[in-house]
Amino acid sequence: MRAILEQLDARRAEARAGGGERRIIAQHAKGKLTARERLEVLLDEGSFEEFDMYVTHRATDFGMASQKVAGDGVVTGWGTINGRLVYVFSQDFTVLGGSLSETHAAKICKIMDMAVRNGAPVIGLNDSGGARIQEGVASLAGYAEVFRRNAEASGVVPQISLVMGPCAGGAVYSPAMTDFIFMVRDSSYMFVTGPDVVKTVTNETVTAEELGGARTHTRKSSVADGAYENDIEALEGVRRFFDFLPLNNREKPPVRTFFDDPERLEMRLDTLVPDNAAKPYDMRELVLALADEADFFEVQADFARNILIGFIRMEGQTVGVVANQPMVLAGCLDIDASRKAARFVRFCDAFSIPILTLVDVPGFLPGTAQEHGGVIKHGAKLLFAYSEATVPMVTLITRKAYGGAYDVMASKHIGADINYAWPTAEIAVMGAKGAVEILYRSELGDAEKIAARTAEYEARFANPFVAAERGFVDEVIMPHSSRRRIARAFAMLRAKTVETPWRKHDNIPL
Ligand code: HXC
Repeated sequence: MRAILEQLDARRAEARAGGGERRIIAQHAKGKLTARERLEVLLDEGSFEEFDMYVTHRATDFGMASQKVAGDGVVTGWGTINGRLVYVFSQDFTVLGGSLSETHAAKICKIMDMAVRNGAPVIGLNDSGGARIQEGVASLAGYAEVFRRNAEASGVVPQISLVMGPCAGGAVYSPAMTDFIFMVRDSSYMFVTGPDVVKTVTNETVTAEELGGARTHTRKSSVADGAYENDIEALEGVRRFFDFLPLNNREKPPVRTFFDDPERLEMRLDTLVPDNAAKPYDMRELVLALADEADFFEVQADFARNILIGFIRMEGQTVGVVANQPMVLAGCLDIDASRKAARFVRFCDAFSIPILTLVDVPGFLPGTAQEHGGVIKHGAKLLFAYSEATVPMVTLITRKAYGGAYDVMASKHIGADINYAWPTAEIAVMGAKGAVEILYRSELGDAEKIAARTAEYEARFANPFVAAERGFVDEVIMPHSSRRRIARAFAMLRAKTVETPWRKHDNIPL
């Protein structure tokens, strides 16, 4: 019996050694942890249960018969994060560059199927050279099996990708189909074709970092939702993020013990909006003032900074926040902001996370770049996403809510449950200056008349009461009591249910 146990120990040790000492040293030299070390940081201590440790590939071409490593370049299984179930896979770059073979894919598919059946999220730690070149179509088939499962799991269980090394070719498309992607600065890359191919085909010279590093994907392409300095920070960050999310689409997000009084008054909010309507202020201050313990997990912080999205808690419950940011582009909606917020609203709606919308928006950004870029279609994404959302929605207008953007930003008409406004709110088709220039074009030469017309327009519309008189705004609230009012509104909406007519799925303008 002892010999049998020792044999098991030896086989386990062999699998745990991955691609061997030399490659592990090389992995560490790049500042990267190994696949198993990463799981140790991500999961609660001692909670990881591994599957398929002895699986090897079945390829024989190109000398592969002699290159079998137990586990085949991916560590899979389940564990817990702060006691809550999660399925994980962690690609092992020390084994054939973490490349994806038929059997490597089958291991990932197995845990994805279990995640959907058992209703728990999937977290993928990606570090892979893409399709295993020696396997040809068997590897492409493996990728496609994973992609299809990404689509099937979408909206059923949260899927989170951490990109922690080079991810080339097929290796980027599975993360791209998940809900959130986080990267590690200076050691992770995502591209469909690498710098060498780019050089050959387009004659562009570009570094891997410029082409697909964390800075590129968090600032320019918006492929990634956030970036961290190193593996440990990234894994700790995902642990924190995980706590905001429900396990699946039939469960509510976890409720955390809270020590922050929901009745807390914030007197500084009474002076947050400057006297001069043209002056910006930092909407993040309002988000932090409303959140339990000022804890805000911001997503896509470096992209489309004219809109803020992320998660807070109120009375311990997760709330998704969408907020115009007057500090950037005066808080205008544009293509990027609309896409960013629309996807977030859909995530929240799919996973029963209530949505708080903070509005200070002068309208959609004008210009040929926006029109030619399809702002109509992209703006419609946000309009569509809010319109179809059935989770509890509370909206607070702090200052401007002009034009189409008033409708889009979770107005009462498209489905918000509670609409509050501060006394500083201005709800109109457009700002007074623009309105007067159109309405009184013939009087434009007469400065005195125009000033009087502008004052008249402002007096009529630069307040929340016209909307409040119609019930479009439920109540005009004191800024300092916003946290209390919003927390109470969400508490009142906790049992909200909405029946929608049967359909296969909607057709959101993509
Ligand atoms: C098999 C691979 C591999 C791959 C890397 N390796 N990528 N083996 N298939 N795709 C192996 C290397 O041979 C090497 O083996 C080890 O992994 C480490 O690779 P290095 O090149 O030494 O590492 P590094 O210098 O860090 O470069 C990493 C890399 C590079 C940037 C990922 O390896 C690379 O460019 N790989 C090819 C990427 C690619 O073109 N993939 C196919 C994409 S097509 P040894 O034995 O020396 O340790 C694709 C199609 C799917 O994915 C499309 C679906 C939509």
